[in-house]
Amino acid sequence: MRVMFVVGARPNFMKAAPILFEMRRQPQIFEPVLVHTGQHYDDNMSAAFFHDLELAAPDVQLGVGSGSHSEQTARILIALEPEILRRRPDLMVVVGDVNSTLAATLVCAKLTVPVAHVEAGLRSFDRSMPEEINRILTDQLSDVLFTTEASAERNLRREGIAPEKIHFVGNVMIDSLVRALPKARSATVLSDLGLTPQQYAVVTLHRPSNVDDPEVLEQILSGLERIAAALPVIFPVHPRTQKRFGTRQTPRLRLIDPVPYLPFLGLVSNARLVLTDSGGLQEETTYLGIPCLTLRPSTERPITVELGTNRLVDSRADAIENAAREALTTTRQARARAQPPLWDGRAACRIVEILRRERIDGRLRSAVSA
Ligand code: UD1
Repeated sequence: MRVMFVVGARPNFMKAAPILFEMRRQPQIFEPVLVHTGQHYDDNMSAAFFHDLELAAPDVQLGVGSGSHSEQTARILIALEPEILRRRPDLMVVVGDVNSTLAATLVCAKLTVPVAHVEAGLRSFDRSMPEEINRILTDQLSDVLFTTEASAERNLRREGIAPEKIHFVGNVMIDSLVRALPKARSATVLSDLGLTPQQYAVVTLHRPSNVDDPEVLEQILSGLERIAAALPVIFPVHPRTQKRFGTRQTPRLRLIDPVPYLPFLGLVSNARLVLTDSGGLQEETTYLGIPCLTLRPSTERPITVELGTNRLVDSRADAIENAAREALTTTRQARARAQPPLWDGRAACRIVEILRRERIDGRLRSAVSA
């Protein structure tokens, strides 16, 4: 069974890796082909992740690069179609909610190649987020939908997806985390940065709604500066955010370049507090039991708030400062919560087994046609 994976952006790599590893352990059944769209291309946004995840280089590089959403999506459509026609996969696997995810799904839907979507059904109910559009459309066009939490199945059923297409398998990103954690914890990142475990905060910010509007960004940076008066704040700056900083000075924040997977996990797993607008980090902090303040009005991952350590916070300086103060005065015992079901490091095994069965039972039929 030839299975094509399309990845493009930083959070895709740790989601695809465990499924690829599992399929490569069964070469008599699976022949995986990895395509990188080139949505992310800087070393520390892409190649360093492949290295840290021990993931072999992609079989195909489309090299589409940056652009507006439409430009980027269109370039992937054009570059990917001939690869699919040439390699004729039996199945496409897409992960997450980035532009590469939607573009690959759309090409396959038109060529009648079945699509499996990993991390299906998450909804923020905020269509101003580009990812929400990508999620809804990808799920509508997918043939097999793998979910990470119960809310996802409810969302998919409400949108009319047939229940037999939906499989609750857990969280592949946690598979990667479980595998990498021992190495991440022994990484030298803390000593390199002169940090003491539990005595610093980590910040990541890249959502257009937080960084593209100068007034919103100003409020967030003021809030972070106030936190940094009491606790060192380490801020690996995403390239999108870097471009928005302009001449803004941030004397108390420690701005650093984006950090590869293992040192980043090392930083987060020893942090006292995380502030973010990332999707994946809400889940990683939940698993690790690290208090997380998510600077967004909504989350597509409600289980991280219900069961985990995550809390949604308004992107205003006062709200950020107050939420951080509360989080820092909560004891570790009071923070301890339950682990979300099936976030156990074995999601990829379940996915691969389901795909094998679907294929044997004749439910995945590819009929590549131009
Ligand atoms: C994308 C995803 C987002 C994901 C994020 C993780 C979409 C719609 N957005 O957002 O869901 O959470 O990746 O990082 O797919 N840039 C570089 N070097 C790179 C990549 C990007 O300098 O390697 C710069 C470019 O100026 C680019 C900007 O960052 O225009 C934004 O990159 P893009 O991939 O368009 O969106 P992200 O904000 O990274």
